Amino acid sequence: MPPKYYPTRGHLLVCQGSSCQARGSSLLHQALWKHLEREALSYYKQGGSVRLTTSGCLGACNHGPTMCVYRQRPEGLEEGWYAAMDFPLASRVAQAVHEGTPLPAEHRYGPPEEIPVGSH
Ligand code: FES
Repeated sequence: MPPKYYPTRGHLLVCQGSSCQARGSSLLHQALWKHLEREALSYYKQGGSVRLTTSGCLGACNHGPTMCVYRQRPEGLEEGWYAAMDFPLASRVAQAVHEGTPLPAEHRYGPPEEIPVGSH
């Protein structure tokens, strides 16, 4: 029997590379995980829709903790890249993914606006 498939509205990845860990990314991931659990936003909760995992280095080591988010939008796959991430901002990104609202602009460094979605 195949594993259960969980549909999600977006996927958040918090870097756990050594530079980001030195800037607190492990605690950030733990706090965000607990928040998603408590608010029933996690994809495996009733009514939840957000997937959260860790990642290896995301290539912005001097600006961590780094987080990226991917989600499907009517116009295509949207990605958001964040530097100097903290818990309040990460929880707002998760809420935006859950509600399907625009991603917060604060601390977002990519992709550049001139790159149209789906062109790369
Ligand atoms: S260690 Fe996090 S971006 Fe490199």
